[in-house]
Amino acid sequence: MRRTRKWTRVVGHAVAWLPLAWLLVEAGLGRLSPNPIQDWTQRTGRGALYLLTLSLAATPLSWLPGLRGIRPWRRAWGLYAFAYAVLHVYLFVGVDYGWRWDWLWQEILTQKPFVWWGASAWVILALLAATSPRWVARRLGARRWKALHRGVYLAAPLAAWHAAQAVKGNVLTLQGDITRPVTVGLLVALLLLARLARRVGKRLLLRRVPPHPPAPETGGNP
Ligand code: HEM
Repeated sequence: MRRTRKWTRVVGHAVAWLPLAWLLVEAGLGRLSPNPIQDWTQRTGRGALYLLTLSLAATPLSWLPGLRGIRPWRRAWGLYAFAYAVLHVYLFVGVDYGWRWDWLWQEILTQKPFVWWGASAWVILALLAATSPRWVARRLGARRWKALHRGVYLAAPLAAWHAAQAVKGNVLTLQGDITRPVTVGLLVALLLLARLARRVGKRLLLRRVPPHPPAPETGGNP
């Protein structure tokens, strides 16, 4: 049993490190494009999006037989997604633009309005990461914490939309290199539907279960 748990841990973390490891290997082999900073920015962005989706998928996957152990990975994969998103933004703002806010501002306003979508997703992820420690969750209270963490269902489509715009795609006319963001967007919608369907199913089932018969009266003579 302990061995299985150890293996699950190794696989869970390995999955999260894979996008970065892959990128490092390709960089080491000199397989990046002539604009490696752009490569790094794009690939860390994809890493963030994939891990965010995986974190969302953890609960529905845990309903499948043999995969119950996946559920606790929601939190870790969500935090990994945020770590990739931090690296992604650092590469864009710090490495590519050298913290020149005036240039950045100009560029975002004129050439890259898609950054607003990414920034909105980033702020949500930052809030979720900041409130992920158990002591913060305890302080917030279960209800508020749950409501806040449903924000992940907003962050994921925002990030997918940001990615689709970044690759100059048009989701409505299916133009541009939008296969990846559209696939992720559809997957997120499917995961959300799966959760809703399960919740509705549970409610219907509860309604069908007959109420408990009244407890027999005790004592007293007829
Ligand atoms: C303040 C926040 C953010 C900024 C400033 C930002 C900036 C950028 C920029 C400049 C690009 C285009 C890179 C290029 O092609 O040269 C990009 C693409 C992308 N970003 Fe972000 N981003 C932010 C947040 C996020 C977040 C939170 C995610 C995911 C959770 C994300 C995922 C992506 C993805 C998947 C791409 C497309 C990569 C590709 O396939 O080409 N970004 N972002």
